[in-house]
Amino acid sequence: MKSTTFIFTLLIVVSLFVFSGCGNGNGNGSGGALSYSNAAEKVYVAPGEYDEYYEFFSGGFSGQVTVHGLPSGRLLKTIPVFSVDGEKGYGFNEETKPMLMTTFGFVPWDDSHHPKLSQTKGVHDGNFLFINGNNTPRIARIDLTTFETTEIIQVPNTAGLHGSPYPTENTEYLVAATRFSVPTPQKDVPIDSYKENFKGTFTFISGGQEPGEMDIAFQILAPGYDYDKANSGKGPSHGWSFFTSYNVEQANTLKEKNASQYDKDYIAAVNWKKAEEYIAQGKFQEWPSEYYHNYYDDKTHMATATLKKGVKVLIPSECPGLVYYLPTPKSPHGVDVNPTGEYIVANGKLSADLTVHSFSKMLAAIEAEKFDEVIDGIPVLNFDAILAGVVESGGLGPLHTEFDGRGNGYTSFFISSEIVKWSLETYEVLDRVPAYYSIGHLSIPGGGSMKPWEDGKYMIAMNKITKDRYLPTGPEMAHSAQLYDISGDKIELLLDFPTMGEPHYAQGILASTIIDRQKKFYLLEENEHPHKTLTEADTKVVRNGNEVHIYGTMIRSHFAPDNIEGIKVGDKVFWHITNLEQDWDVPHGLAVMGAQTAELLIMPGQTETLVWQPKTEGVYPFYCTDFCSALHQEMQGYIRVSAKNSNTKIKWGLDEEFFGE
Ligand code: CUA
Repeated sequence: MKSTTFIFTLLIVVSLFVFSGCGNGNGNGSGGALSYSNAAEKVYVAPGEYDEYYEFFSGGFSGQVTVHGLPSGRLLKTIPVFSVDGEKGYGFNEETKPMLMTTFGFVPWDDSHHPKLSQTKGVHDGNFLFINGNNTPRIARIDLTTFETTEIIQVPNTAGLHGSPYPTENTEYLVAATRFSVPTPQKDVPIDSYKENFKGTFTFISGGQEPGEMDIAFQILAPGYDYDKANSGKGPSHGWSFFTSYNVEQANTLKEKNASQYDKDYIAAVNWKKAEEYIAQGKFQEWPSEYYHNYYDDKTHMATATLKKGVKVLIPSECPGLVYYLPTPKSPHGVDVNPTGEYIVANGKLSADLTVHSFSKMLAAIEAEKFDEVIDGIPVLNFDAILAGVVESGGLGPLHTEFDGRGNGYTSFFISSEIVKWSLETYEVLDRVPAYYSIGHLSIPGGGSMKPWEDGKYMIAMNKITKDRYLPTGPEMAHSAQLYDISGDKIELLLDFPTMGEPHYAQGILASTIIDRQKKFYLLEENEHPHKTLTEADTKVVRNGNEVHIYGTMIRSHFAPDNIEGIKVGDKVFWHITNLEQDWDVPHGLAVMGAQTAELLIMPGQTETLVWQPKTEGVYPFYCTDFCSALHQEMQGYIRVSAKNSNTKIKWGLDEEFFGE
């Protein structure tokens, strides 16, 4: 049997075992009623109490991020990132539409994968969360004072931005690798010319710690493989980033077979400090590539989309010492660097063993030129020369590894659906627990940084399939997370909770690091929106040709104005509304009957704009959508739409006072 056929057979056999062996939802194997009550106590957060951690989950094909509290698993917020969101009007209101601009046009959806927290000295500093869009290559910044998406940069010369954003030790750079090699720059060629025309890229994005300043610092052209995951070095390996590749076979069809032929693929080790030297020396090619940089300003409450042109591209064959390949068994998926920065753990997804590379041995092998071959100017280091150790019989199909800061690694195994705890000192397996079912990523709060929070207390599994774990909900079942206590020698399952979309990855942070920085409302005196209205006396309705601008306000519990006349069929109505509240947790909403867009949900002190093009005559109600007070139902108004050729005059007002043309 060919080795690939063997692996597929194995996969099917193991899958059958996993899905039939566990029967009903009670088969979690963590034992009797006593341990359940123990687990319940550990995850119970009393009413009115806060969770200890924020955990940020990617939404996968939802395109968003969800925030859960740990240990309760409670959902705190959905943050819209790459997909439009009717709940908050994100991507629907005029202010946030520019956030989703790309060179492909307005793209209202993406596949969000890896939330990564910003770092200072290798520790999560609580400033920002970054996440990649896999389908239309983009990286977003979420500001952790507002929990809102404030910046999105498109990554050019890339197709499928999977291995991203993985910040360097001080967030000097966010990194990105192309998942799909494509003709680079793009051109019209036959698909079967893959080997000759298709290339990959690694991208380094600067400005991670400076809001509004994200930019493509440089790109590195790479052989035409598929690049999967990444991670950046820390401590001694600071200055390097690592990218896994598969499809070294360079297959362009039936990859499930044809990209799994060779024994080893590569991890690309990129010396980005060397890259900075080459850039400074001018040893780059300037490519005319175009990409969008979109930035949301908290003062103007508006986003701008800027088309940028030109990137610096480094070619490895012209830049010795820039990239090395570390041979790694069987189509590696995740690459993870331990907290000390010495070990580079490669998770070969079609392998049974875990390969651990040594960073110091890697440097020695480079020094001694222990190269097996050179591919497109990239030396392939000798496998034995860089090997630190192998974790044997770990499980089947290792995907990702995180660390507890006590010298242990925890690796998710997709095929055998389990998490294996092992020692970074002896490479021995110390413990293993099942995951229900088909675990992808796992997360230990701080476990990808130099300092796992609270010494690695919890671990979260993110599972692709829930099957029988919850009440059935038709053909589609929720994906799920599972929470484990890892503070003792044995891993203990505490809790299952469903997630939104597909949680590819999650990162957690001790709540106390960001809780005091939360913005509670926007100061009206700092509002620089060009269409703000700061008092009810300033409200007005202005006709300009067939555009009508309503400058309105909202405060508990009325709109000003709440009666508007003089709109005509064919008009384009811009509803610029300012929420005059200056208090925490008092948003107001705006919805008008028949509007072909989402509501506005306006935070205190903020201005937002809804565009409405009424198609027929009549009187239309509008109302506040967010239950803001006892008289929320009374927070409503009427807008009159007259015939195109009518001479109804513009008139607006509230209560006793009406104004008009
Ligand atoms: Cu304002 Cu409900």
